[in-house]
Formats: sequence, C-alpha cells, structure tokens
Amino acid sequence: RGKRAFIAGVADDQGFGWAIAKALAAAGAEILVGTWVPALNIFESSLRRGKFDESRQLSNGGLFEIAKVYPLDAVFDTPEDVPEDIKNNKRYAGSSGWTVQECAESVKADFGCIDILVHSLANGPEVTKPLMETTRKGYLAAISASTYSYVSLLKYFAPIMNPGGSSLSLTYLASEQIIPGYGGGMSSAKAALESDTRVLAFEVGRKYGIRVNTISAGPLRSRAAKAIGFIDDMINYSTANAPLQKELEAGDVGYTAAFLSSPLASAVTGSLIYVDNGVHAMGLAV
Ligand code: NAI
Repeated sequence: RGKRAFIAGVADDQGFGWAIAKALAAAGAEILVGTWVPALNIFESSLRRGKFDESRQLSNGGLFEIAKVYPLDAVFDTPEDVPEDIKNNKRYAGSSGWTVQECAESVKADFGCIDILVHSLANGPEVTKPLMETTRKGYLAAISASTYSYVSLLKYFAPIMNPGGSSLSLTYLASEQIIPGYGGGMSSAKAALESDTRVLAFEVGRKYGIRVNTISAGPLRSRAAKAIGFIDDMINYSTANAPLQKELEAGDVGYTAAFLSSPLASAVTGSLIYVDNGVHAMGLAV
C-alpha cells in the first residue's frame, strides 16, 4: 500500500503546503489536506474551476490529485472550545467538524489511518508590530495558531498514524537570530515550535514510533509571507548573501519534506533541517 498524508495549511498553490503535498503525491502518496475554514470555499471552487491545473502538473505527466479537502481551524481543539461568535460567523456556519479533534475523527472514518502528518500553517495577527508593541492577546494568538496547533494536531492524529510514520512542521530562522520585522510574537512562536519538535519527537517516538522533524525554510512569496510586508526584501537579502545565490522555490522544501517523510529518513527525528540556500550559516554578509 502507498502512504497516505494529511497536510494541514493548504489554501492555494503558492505556499509550502501545496509544494509538499505535490512532492509527496509525486512520490506516490495519497493526499488529504486541511484547509482553514474561511479559505475553504475559494480554495475548493478554484480547484474545481481548474485554476490550479497548471501547478498540478507532475513531471511524470500526471496531474496531482487531492483525495479529500477537510475544513480545519487549528486554533480550536474540540467543539467545546468554539466561542459563540465563531459558531455564528457566516464564514464558519457553512462547514462543520473543523476542530482538530473532529477533523482527525473524520479522517479516521473516511480512510482509517495516515502515515504522514504535515503542519504548514501559521498566523500572527500582530506580525507587523515589533515585539515591544505586541499585546498579550496578539502574542498568545500567534503561539496558539502557529505552535500549539501542532501539539494539538499530533495529539489527535498520532493515534491514527501507522508506526514508522513521519510528522513535520515549517519554521523560520527568526526563532534563533534577530529578524527585525518578523514581529507579533511570531519569532517566539517559531522558537517554541522548534523546542516542541524535540520534546514531541521523544513523546510520540516512544509511544507511537513516529518521527518528528521541522524544516527551517528560506523566504518564499506565499500568501502568509506577503501579509508580513517585507518578503521581497527578505528574498533579495537571501539571494545577495546566501552561499547559494538563487531564489528558493517552494519545491525545494517539498522535496526535503518528501525525503523526511520517507523511509530514507528512518533514523531522523527531533531534527531541524535548513532548506534556505544556506543563508542561516552566514555570520557576515559579503
Ligand atoms: P501559506 O499562506 O501558504 O500557508 C499558511 C496557511 O495557514 C494558509 O493556508 C492559512 O489558511 C493557514 N492557516 C492560518 N491559520 C490557520 C488556522 N487557524 N487553522 C488552519 N489553517 C490556518 O504560507 P506559507 O508561507 O507557505 O506558510 C506555511 C508555513 O511555512 C508556516 O508555518 C510559515 O510560518 C512557514 N514559513 C514560511 C516562510 C516564508 O517565507 N513564506 C519561511 C519559513 C517558514
């Protein structure tokens, strides 16, 4: 049997989630995705209308297929956690079963189990504010959407993952070096995500035999990154200063994700892998 993957955080064909899903599909995996509820309608209708057909092309001539799209809001673990204003919000009312627990239950009911779990989502409502100007609410929201969401996904999905399975997330260099502009507590959220990668590798490794890694990716002009506001500067900085002076492609991260998700990486867990043309290793820009 081929492997089955659930990728949380795909809502268009521009981000890392799409590229990871596509690389896993090219390697023979069956693909399920979790799409943020407010983005679900537009994503599904764009898929249906063929808007992504060009980026669905696989190098073997086939078309990348998504077996099922699940609505997901990873800041809510169970139905009891959903406040009234969200329940009654018209962008949410049209979908159901989108808390993390319910989403895992739906995947189990539809497919039984998965082998690969990918967390490719983040949200920091105050990302454009320096840390010193970030409110407690904004900081905690960044940690909730960008970090605890991963703990929650693993908590509910690990029990339906086959032993030998693999899980990974996406992080960013701002966790360990000063990147002015990556604010709102997002640098803190990524630092926590990296620390959690090690602790979770231990906990789910021992309990379920599942590996947990994170990819520290270089800058990509995704929808989320454009919202931060300085993505073009980041890309230019990297192209000018990284050991490899080329622009990062989403596929570069997709292929590393496919490797980490495969038996080729069967002894790799608790690791942070840089996929950034080496920019993290520079101390003095020249
Ligand atoms: P993206 O916009 O393609 O992906 C982010 C996704 O998260 C979107 O689909 C959004 O709908 C979803 N999302 C937000 N809040 C959610 C929630 N509560 N529940 C479910 N889904 C939710 O952007 P990108 O850049 O591909 O982001 C993927 C990951 O890569 C993120 O963890 C990001 O921090 C990380 N990353 C991005 C870099 C970049 O330069 N683009 C660099 C390094 C890491």
